[in-house]
Amino acid sequence: MTAVNEAGARVAVVVPAAGRGERLGGGVPKALRPLGGRPMLVHAVQALSAAELVSQIVVAAPPTLVEVVSRLLGPDVRVLPGGAERVDSVRGALRALDDDIRVVLVHDAARPLTPPSLVDAVARAVLGGHPAVIPVLPLADTVKEVDADGRVLRTPPRGGLRAVQTPQGFRREVLEAAYASQDGDLPAVTDDAGLVERLGVPVATIPGADEAFKVTRAADLLFAEALLARRPLAESGRSS
Ligand code: CTP
Ligand code: MG
Repeated sequence: MTAVNEAGARVAVVVPAAGRGERLGGGVPKALRPLGGRPMLVHAVQALSAAELVSQIVVAAPPTLVEVVSRLLGPDVRVLPGGAERVDSVRGALRALDDDIRVVLVHDAARPLTPPSLVDAVARAVLGGHPAVIPVLPLADTVKEVDADGRVLRTPPRGGLRAVQTPQGFRREVLEAAYASQDGDLPAVTDDAGLVERLGVPVATIPGADEAFKVTRAADLLFAEALLARRPLAESGRSS
């Protein structure tokens, strides 16, 4: 983490970490589920701290665990209670940004193995002039659009589809306008760029990273454990 990056604009990351993790199960909020002996959120925040361009980190934690999470992450990370839905958690965290932040990234705590280089690549693309930037990967599976009964309506050509990851990066005023425009009206939007698209703001894509996958179900956690076990000691944080 640096105070001011080379472009002279400060970059913050908002980390929604207040979800319950119902699909993963296990009786603990997902962000606190251990991965390699440490909570997933700690891995995610460590990667953000290791990014060169990040100067502030704000975490939206499960409301009953704000103090626990705050102690876990230390004094450099601001921790606030999250909301009922992901959009509520992000909206609340946006209010805690320092005044001089110009670029905001939003990054899921549930993507604990995201490389710091991807965080910097997203930040750099926004600093370079794009109002909104998302990391994407080509799809492995074919995707079908279906009706309420599960009958196939159509098959969009896979070549034109992308799977979307986080961190997603925005000029601060763009993201704030997107969230302000949605007050009291929670749409079926599943990522932050989706809100920005509704304003008609162009969203640029950059290549994502395989390690930035989201831990959603039990098999994802097994995969994350396996990847972490193969990392060099220093990089995995187990030496510190
Ligand atoms: N999130 C949040 N506040 C919520 C819901 C989700 O901050 N009210 C966060 C999660 O903690 C996670 C990210 O948004 O880091 C992506 O959400 P998801 O993967 O769906 O996590 P959960 O909502 O915890 O999982 P599930 O949907 O299986 O309950
Ligand atoms: Mg969820």
